Amino acid sequence: MKFFIDTAKVEDIKKANDMGVICGVTTNPSLIAKEGRVFEEVIKEITSIVDGPISGEVKATTTDAEGMITEGRAIAAIHPNMVVKIPMTAEGLKAVKVLSAEGIKTNVTLIFTPNQALLAARAGATYVSPFLGRLDDISVDGVELVRQIAEIFAVADIPTEIIAASVRHPMHVTACAAAGADIATVPYKVIEQMINHPLTTAGIEKFKQDYLAVFGDK
Ligand code: E4P
Repeated sequence: MKFFIDTAKVEDIKKANDMGVICGVTTNPSLIAKEGRVFEEVIKEITSIVDGPISGEVKATTTDAEGMITEGRAIAAIHPNMVVKIPMTAEGLKAVKVLSAEGIKTNVTLIFTPNQALLAARAGATYVSPFLGRLDDISVDGVELVRQIAEIFAVADIPTEIIAASVRHPMHVTACAAAGADIATVPYKVIEQMINHPLTTAGIEKFKQDYLAVFGDK
């Protein structure tokens, strides 16, 4: 399983990219709004940092296929690495069909059932994004959704990649990897939580103290 970072905060994207752990970025209208920056501006900056798929979502106010297609073409024109993120609706599927026929990569977002994922894949989606955390929030097993989608895509030999999204903590990451997600898109905070372990911190301190006790600060 590969990692994308799920944020529009360029400082965090730079930090994750410098560690070499991410190979793409996902954004959504809420994440862009959180940064308070113009969409095209922040997306361009992100493409200059990460050399991999960058998902930019159509405006939340655009709900018709025609509008999503026009916006999708504009998003794709920003940079060759752009992926157009489209919500899972009937109009969204129509837009995915047209954009993917034009060779534009798409990421169908807000997936909550295996059938939604299957339809998105058949419409031509490059990626589907099942939202684990938001399912867990309503007491439905989000990881099980990823497992079912992975099983269906494997049985039907579907090349669409599964991006585990709405990842809230490191246990989600491990479970998604085991469930067959191709990618997990994670907030920077979760990357930090995955790096740190109290025994690692204690081990580094012990090595330091043992070394200092014999050799001093040489
Ligand atoms: C994924 O593409 C979404 O941007 C994201 O993972 C949503 O996460 P949330 O449910 O924590 O807002």
